[in-house]
Amino acid sequence: MSSARPEDGPRQRLFFALWPDDAVRARLNQAGEELLGKRVKRVPAENLHLTLAFAGAVSAPVRQCLQAAAAGIRCPAFELSIEHIGHWSRPRIYWAGPVHTPPPLWSLAGLLQTALGECGLQTETRPYQPHITLARKIQRVPDISRIAPIGWSIRHFSLLESVTGPRAASYQILGSWELEG
Ligand code: 2AM
Repeated sequence: MSSARPEDGPRQRLFFALWPDDAVRARLNQAGEELLGKRVKRVPAENLHLTLAFAGAVSAPVRQCLQAAAAGIRCPAFELSIEHIGHWSRPRIYWAGPVHTPPPLWSLAGLLQTALGECGLQTETRPYQPHITLARKIQRVPDISRIAPIGWSIRHFSLLESVTGPRAASYQILGSWELEG
């Protein structure tokens, strides 16, 4: 799909994600606060998101290739229910996600992996685990694996740039594409 060489020009750190609207964002943030309290350093509310595919540091031609591929994706809109709480001990990440991954989410994440490969990027070999990171480097794991379901209507997906700041990364939406239906 692309003749872009990954070494072309300055790079941006990019990923595809589901980006919550304000209402869903507020509920996710509230759930994080209730689970972890105010003392734990949580992901800032404005940064909460669900990654679909991680591209990494890419050149402008590769970014354009990803945007063109995203525009060609056909996938139905779907409903997501965030109610599972998980913990990964090695990166010490505390996250929220769906109990059951809806088939269109598998499909969308898979299509984006294909797009990454077609644009000359490395694709993920680990199985896709949809998650919204609520906190990193946590010391103690709360003994809770379920929360009251947070309903989230997925109507589009986005390409984000991650800019590393002195305190936290900041994310900027570079483009969004509608799902069907
Ligand atoms: P995380 O929340 O589990 O850390 C922006 O950094 C987003 O891309 C985050 O959601 C992050 O997932 C994800 N991410 C960062 N580095 C990654 C990598 N090497 N592979 C897959 N996803 C990554």
